[in-house]
This record gives sequence, C-alpha cells and structure tokens, in this order.
Amino acid sequence: MTTWMVAGNWKMNNTAAEGVALAQEIIAGLPDIAGRGEVVLAPSFTVLRSVYDVIKGSPVTLASQNIFFEDKGAYTGEISAAMLRDAGCTYAIIGHSERRKYFHETDGNVNLKVKKCLAAGLKPIICVGETDEEREAGITEFVVGIQVKKALAGINDLAHVTIAYEPVWAIGTGKNATPVEAEEVHEFIRNILSDVYGSPAVETRILYGGSVTADNFGELIAMKDINGALVGGASLKSGNFLGIISRALERNT
Ligand code: 13P
Repeated sequence: MTTWMVAGNWKMNNTAAEGVALAQEIIAGLPDIAGRGEVVLAPSFTVLRSVYDVIKGSPVTLASQNIFFEDKGAYTGEISAAMLRDAGCTYAIIGHSERRKYFHETDGNVNLKVKKCLAAGLKPIICVGETDEEREAGITEFVVGIQVKKALAGINDLAHVTIAYEPVWAIGTGKNATPVEAEEVHEFIRNILSDVYGSPAVETRILYGGSVTADNFGELIAMKDINGALVGGASLKSGNFLGIISRALERNT
C-alpha cells in the first residue's frame, strides 16, 4: 500500500524563530511514523535552513513552496533547485493555486519546474485544482485533467512525483470537499496517471488539500485514492498538525 504523506504548507507565515519553535514542537510530539508515512514541512525560503537544522536526523523532511526553472543567472528574486537542495529540501511544492493566481504561473511554467526539480534530485509536489466557477460549470475534470497532463508532459517516470489535489474554493475557506467529492477527482487523476504510466501509478501519492483539519481528515484519508494531505492553516499550530498526523496513522491500523 502507498504510504501516506502529511505536508504542512506554511505559506507566508513564520519568521525563523517562529518556524524553529513550531518545528521543535512537531518533532517533540511526533509519534513513530517509520515505514507508515511521511511528514513534510514547507516554510518560507528564508526559514528553510533554520527548520532543517531542527528536523535533520528526524523522520520529518523539508519542502520549498516554489522553485525557479533556470539553474542560475540574472533572475532577481528567484531560487534554484541547487539552492533548495543546499538548504536541505527533499521536496518542492510546484504550481500552488496561489502562485497560479497571484504570480501568473502557467501549466507551461509548472512543467519546466517539475522537470528542473527531477533533474536536480528534488521531488515535486504538483498542485492542481479547479475554481468555484469551474466546478459550478461542471468542468472540474476537464480543468484538472489538463493541469495534470501539462505538468507531466515529457516526464516518463512517476517514482518521485506527488500530486496534490487542492480545489481552489476549499483553500482557506473552511469549506472542504466532502470525502466523496474529493475521491471522485482523486480517482480521476489516478486514472489519467494509469493511462499514461501504467501500473506504477497505483503507487503515486495523491494528496488532498483545502481546509484540512484533524476533524475532517479521518474521513478523507479513509478514501481509496487519497494518500495524504497538503495542509495550510492547520499546519501552523503543532497540536492541529499533529492531530492530522494521528488521523493518517489510524489509516495504517
Ligand atoms: P488551507 O489548509 O489553509 O485551506 O490551505 C490549503 C493549502 O493551500 C495547502 O497548500
């Protein structure tokens, strides 16, 4: 069975001191997850190294919230894959809807970033999801299908790829997708991956993101094609985040 992943996307929150304190609380409260799942923290760029110093040697790994697709040069304000590896990252979140919305990231950019990530030995967590209007218009699968296919264009191995389905209308709204709504899209994504990559797609983690809490995650993680969570707001308090990890562990039993 695919092991689960619970990843905390801290977004633009936490100074280094705050991030270190939060990571220390998470490490202190973390149950034994060895062989059962993976916990990932995604602080801001400036906080990566400080958090890495707290988690190194623990089962928790580090992700960036973004990456740039060039190796080096005159790209003011951007961060390369090599820099992120250097800061201790194992994963990079790519194509989050906030980046698509506020920073005009396209599926083409996402694809370049996924390729750069994999070439540099970083594992991409690729975010996809429909807006409220798109769901209302009945084009959720059309939209998500295009996002998945374009993100993975030219990628011939899924081994290091994680997908996060984050319906935009569920992010930060307290309005999470029901387990059945989420599972429908997760299964649809799994089928796309299976069509292109065959049986290895069974092993690909597909995370759900959007107003995940310890209260609603138990029912979500019980669904066949939901392999974990990408958590925003509830990852900013250790108790809430550890509660979500506990729900994931219950899935193993
Ligand atoms: P919330 O959990 O705050 O809804 O955010 C989800 C998200 O965007 C994670 O990447």
